[in-house]
Amino acid sequence: MKINVGVIFGGRSVENEISVITAAQTMAAMNEERYNIIPIFISKEGRWYTGDKLRSTDNYRDMATLIKSVEEVYLRPIYGDNRLYKVRKPLFGSDVVATLDVILPALHGTSGEDGSFQGLIEMTGIPYACPNPLASANGMDKITMKMILKESGIPVIDYRWFSDKEWLSQQSDVVARVEQMSYPLIVKPANLGSSVGIKAVHNREELIEATDNAIKYSKRIIVEHLVEKLKEINCSVLGDYYDCEASVCEAPVRSGEILSYEDKYLGGGKNKPSEGMHSTVREIPARLPEATTDFIRKTACDTFRVLACDGVSRIDFMIDEANGEIYVNEINTIPGSLSFYLWEATGVKFDELVDRLIAIAFKRKRDSEFKTTSYSDNIFAYQAAHGAKLGGAKGAKR
Ligand SMILES: Nc1ncnc2c1ncn2[C@@H]1O[C@H](COP(=O)(O)OP(=O)(O)O)[C@@H](O)[C@H]1O
Ligand SMILES: [Mg+2]
Repeated sequence: MKINVGVIFGGRSVENEISVITAAQTMAAMNEERYNIIPIFISKEGRWYTGDKLRSTDNYRDMATLIKSVEEVYLRPIYGDNRLYKVRKPLFGSDVVATLDVILPALHGTSGEDGSFQGLIEMTGIPYACPNPLASANGMDKITMKMILKESGIPVIDYRWFSDKEWLSQQSDVVARVEQMSYPLIVKPANLGSSVGIKAVHNREELIEATDNAIKYSKRIIVEHLVEKLKEINCSVLGDYYDCEASVCEAPVRSGEILSYEDKYLGGGKNKPSEGMHSTVREIPARLPEATTDFIRKTACDTFRVLACDGVSRIDFMIDEANGEIYVNEINTIPGSLSFYLWEATGVKFDELVDRLIAIAFKRKRDSEFKTTSYSDNIFAYQAAHGAKLGGAKGAKR
């Protein structure tokens, strides 16, 4: 019996297209003797579609034609229902397109990587191969993530944070707080990805300009100390809280002050065809002293565990070459291309990476079944039998 795998991608995110690429690469690598692949694309408007045409990135150039050739579908947030339903109910026959044994999310960014999607899937009870809502949300928010890592003794760069409202109503206070750190700094919307809205700033004027822009993207803003002599190192972690391992490290190559959207997805030039994160110019394994590599791989696993992740994540590090300090910059809980290029260099082929992700999803589902989520006792029946009043002075939980 083949396993029905719903590969879900796209989404209401600035990273919609990147996610389409991640999914296409993943589906191409999956062992079709073992899996029935059910591609599920979420459009930028948030509508869900399934159909074979969704598997090839070539078909996305003409979105209107693509949408006409596929079926609009939905999942019901009802526990135990793993069916994918047609939006347009047929006059005859079933309105069920597929049943999903497991979901492999290839979504990136807002509403895909931040816990919202994971929450919906939790409601259905379908096993899924990425971190749960809490871990996803913590990993997506650059402020919350840094707070947790700092509290756990994992090195992060100095930062301050504030809300858009504080910025608009108490700008001079916010500027004073931020300027406790010396320039240069870097301004980031707290919960986006792909370098969108991020700007290095060297004085107050640039800080104001960059923040005015960043609040267009996010309610919360983080400003960090800018590492000027920066070497970036990425390391992927695969597994779960109890058992995880780190891949080899990579050094992505930048064309400017920060690793831009173009560096990440267009191979440094806007005119080249994109292959997702796969097209970033990079050095694998990164040429680093052995002790540095060991520290990064260990810290990557610690970060994955502290944030309670499952599946595959990529942890991005910054080395300050001026003083040798190493910081965790961020975690990507669903990395572009699922970091397959790092796992291949570690000796795990892409199809095996998918097998392991699916195994992790099933294991987590089994583990969760041992936890108590509700009591079978009926509190109302108890009340009737014992004459107690619910909601009264006694018995009510306040
Ligand atoms: N504190 C920093 N100092 C120097 N460069 C940074 C710093 N933080 C981020 N960058 C640069 O900006 C890029 C994007 O920032 P990052 O925090 O990774 O956001 P995103 O989620 O958009 O990838 C990084 O890959 C790096 O090149
Ligand atoms: Mg990044």
